Amino acid sequence: MMTTPTDSPDAGHATAVGGVVTIEPMTLIGILGGTGPQGRGLTRRFAAAGHAVVIGSRDPARAEQVAAAYAEVGDVSGGSNRDAAAADLVVVTVPYEGHAELLGSLVEELADKIVVDCVNPLGFDRQGPYALTVPAGSAAQEAAALLPRSQVVGAFHHVSAVRLDDPDLDTIGGDVLVLGEDRDAVAVVCDLATTIPGARGIYAGRLRLAGPVEALTANLIAINRRYQAHAGIAVTDLP
Ligand SMILES: NC(=O)c1ccc[n+]([C@@H]2O[C@H](COP(=O)([O-])OP(=O)(O)OC[C@H]3O[C@@H](n4cnc5c(N)ncnc54)[C@H](OP(=O)(O)O)[C@@H]3O)[C@@H](O)[C@H]2O)c1
Repeated sequence: MMTTPTDSPDAGHATAVGGVVTIEPMTLIGILGGTGPQGRGLTRRFAAAGHAVVIGSRDPARAEQVAAAYAEVGDVSGGSNRDAAAADLVVVTVPYEGHAELLGSLVEELADKIVVDCVNPLGFDRQGPYALTVPAGSAAQEAAALLPRSQVVGAFHHVSAVRLDDPDLDTIGGDVLVLGEDRDAVAVVCDLATTIPGARGIYAGRLRLAGPVEALTANLIAINRRYQAHAGIAVTDLP
């Protein structure tokens, strides 16, 4: 594990608990399951924006290997998911199948932090993608139930991993719907979303509205398959 930038008193941080409502440069961001396409794409953009990123994995050696590929982009290191959970702000990019077990094992590490959940519980059959029924209502609500001392925020569900991780794309475009119970935590994550070139973080409701947002990804995948695209969403008529 690298030395964290929060060792310096001048280093940035992001937490709603201390009343800080903006994300500052050099925030240490941990990504659980960061070795997959979504984790890698967010790593590229967060590192390019000046944040330090710890890619987490069930296999720290794999995370270190993935991190090495982003050395030219910025301050990126790899470690275990527990190492990533020690960051100032933590993003969850694992498949829904592993979501509850992983978060349930990191309750203490994630306490008093913003945890950004971008998990879309989806299934695929011969008719294509579909939204799974989640007992808690959504993956984000499941995370909030598992992590009662964390500020869980849902975001980045509709941002294409392919576009995020394309070094030749100067702008990603599209809006990032941000859902949460805590205004300060939502503000931090809206700020974080806006560090992605061309993207905009928009408050989209309390966590009880996360289910339809996660499910909408099935529609985007259907669009992508029909039109050979990497579609995102855009909200109209905002100032
Ligand atoms: N791909 C996209 O465009 C996109 C866009 C928006 C949101 N999302 C959401 O982001 C999440 C990640 O997407 P992805 O495409 O990157 O997924 P992925 O490649 O299937 O999984 C990401 C990483 O999660 C870890 N993992 C796999 N199964 C696990 C389990 N059972 N328990 C714990 N960790 C496990 C693996 O890392 P290790 O083997 O290294 O531990 C894997 O590299 C998904 O929930 C997806 O719905 C994806």
